[in-house]
Amino acid sequence: MLVLGIESSCDDMAAAVVEDGSTLLSSVVSSQDDIHERYGGIVPELASRRHIETVVPVVEEAIRQSGRSLDEIEGIGVTMGPGLLGSLLIGLSFAKALAYDRNIPFVGVNHIVAHPLATLISEAGAEAGKDKPDFPFVALVVSGGHTTLFRYENENDCKVLGETRDDAAGEAFDKVAKLLGYSYPGGAVIDRLAKEGRSDGVPFKRPYIAKESLDFSFSGIKTAVLNHIKGLKGGGLTEEVIRDIAASFQEAVVDVLVRKAFDAVRQGGVKDLVVAGGVACNSRLRERLRARGKEDGVRVFIPTPRLCSDNGAFIAVAAYHLLKAGRRDDIALDADPNLSFRA
Ligand code: KG4
Ligand code: ZN
Repeated sequence: MLVLGIESSCDDMAAAVVEDGSTLLSSVVSSQDDIHERYGGIVPELASRRHIETVVPVVEEAIRQSGRSLDEIEGIGVTMGPGLLGSLLIGLSFAKALAYDRNIPFVGVNHIVAHPLATLISEAGAEAGKDKPDFPFVALVVSGGHTTLFRYENENDCKVLGETRDDAAGEAFDKVAKLLGYSYPGGAVIDRLAKEGRSDGVPFKRPYIAKESLDFSFSGIKTAVLNHIKGLKGGGLTEEVIRDIAASFQEAVVDVLVRKAFDAVRQGGVKDLVVAGGVACNSRLRERLRARGKEDGVRVFIPTPRLCSDNGAFIAVAAYHLLKAGRRDDIALDADPNLSFRA
């Protein structure tokens, strides 16, 4: 079954064509970093206005790159939440109109729950395609808005094991980058700066909450970075100081993410761990997860970076499995900015 996936929940407009829930034929992402970076965060009204301009060309390009035609598309999946209402509505309205016009089924997809399904995609020559996780698995979704641990029984059934009580990991990366003088989004900048810094340069406290807890909390460490910067003596935020703060902050966040992900694997008695979402692009996190996986005999699956951050491909995979299970949504489906992922 050839499925078109459309994603517009935040500041990216994305579309992809995936065959049978696994073969990636195309994935096109139109980023809006140029619009939002000067404001230090996403401006929702500007995001949805740009989405109106990009939805048609992005979908057309995804179909063109897939080497198939619109007539061959057999189903459509579209993000229905969570996300920014205005942004969600553009992708959803377009998907509904296209499905109605073409008389093909469509389903609304939960963006957060769909992220880990990127590991079910085979990309010619890419690391994600070599091997796929077996159910049940534990998945850690680390994105700009969410830090959540799930247990997946199958493609359409998962439950929450733990989540952040305040900031998401990506949000903490973005805020710390801002404190260090960089524009939005800052995760990739911290990743780059940290490579040249000392990870033990500043002893930031690791927020573990309670010993066996699978919940997260990242707002304290962001405040610790702010207080550290305020207390700097001498030359203040020199390049060397910035690199050390970036490396030390990143190491603290990675320590917590790795420990809790593997705690969840142990507690759940599963063999496979999936990590997805924009923060899963982080090179140190990827390295530490793989090392710990080897130590513990746990198979670790992390999509290639382009499939970790937002894209239409994992939406198409999720939609394929929902459609296969018989779900159909109708034209009355509404976007839900706070769509829950608790069963
Ligand atoms: O999943 P995603 O693309 O969008 C959401 O659904 O939120 O995640 C975006 C987040 C941003 O906070 C961004 O700073 C972070 O992922 N991010 C990174 C890296 N690349 C993107 N965080 C740390 N290291 C990176 N290399
Ligand atoms: Zn996302």
